[in-house]
Amino acid sequence: MTDFAAHAERIRAVPDWPEPGVTFRDITPLLADPEGLAATIDALTDVAVAWGPIDTVVGIEARGFVLAPPVALRLGAGFVPIRKAGKLPAPTESRTYDLEYGSATVEVHRDAIAPGDRVLIMDDVLATGGTIAAARELVTALGGVVVGELVLLELPALGGRERLASDTPLAALVTYR
Ligand code: PRP
Ligand code: HPA
Repeated sequence: MTDFAAHAERIRAVPDWPEPGVTFRDITPLLADPEGLAATIDALTDVAVAWGPIDTVVGIEARGFVLAPPVALRLGAGFVPIRKAGKLPAPTESRTYDLEYGSATVEVHRDAIAPGDRVLIMDDVLATGGTIAAARELVTALGGVVVGELVLLELPALGGRERLASDTPLAALVTYR
């Protein structure tokens, strides 16, 4: 297991962004640091490995796209994008959900996940849980089996873990109260 905690100090708090009253946890300084990037991918992979075989790692646009492919490579799994509405060219499954600020629609290609595929859902942040809830619905609608949900950071004040409560494991490398 990597010592991720020391590297997590590179995540910075940006007050009043994107709107007054919101403290935005910015992971870009962590990822910009070579050792921070490596430690992040190592730590995420360590968590996923413990969840058993994984066929597909789903990453959620946009910041989930940064984390999911390197973890998929380490696991010997494929990568499937969940994208904002209107970006995927082939037939899609679609869900609309509320965000901490605003709302969004996400989509996945219907042929990207086969029934019975063991799927890991990845994103950078768990806030209200709306995004991961929508991703879970998309994966299960296609017959995929969600083996775990994995994020870099969790904001527990926004209640995502309670909203997502299930038998499926949910893990975050770091939590900001
Ligand atoms: C952010 C973040 C997660 C989501 C978490 O994405 O990257 O995907 O919000 O919030 P939730 O748990 O309340 O759903 P955002 O929609 O801001 O898009 P971006 O990644 O394109 O910046
Ligand atoms: N940081 C990064 N992404 C986010 C946040 C945050 O505080 N809230 C919702 N998405």
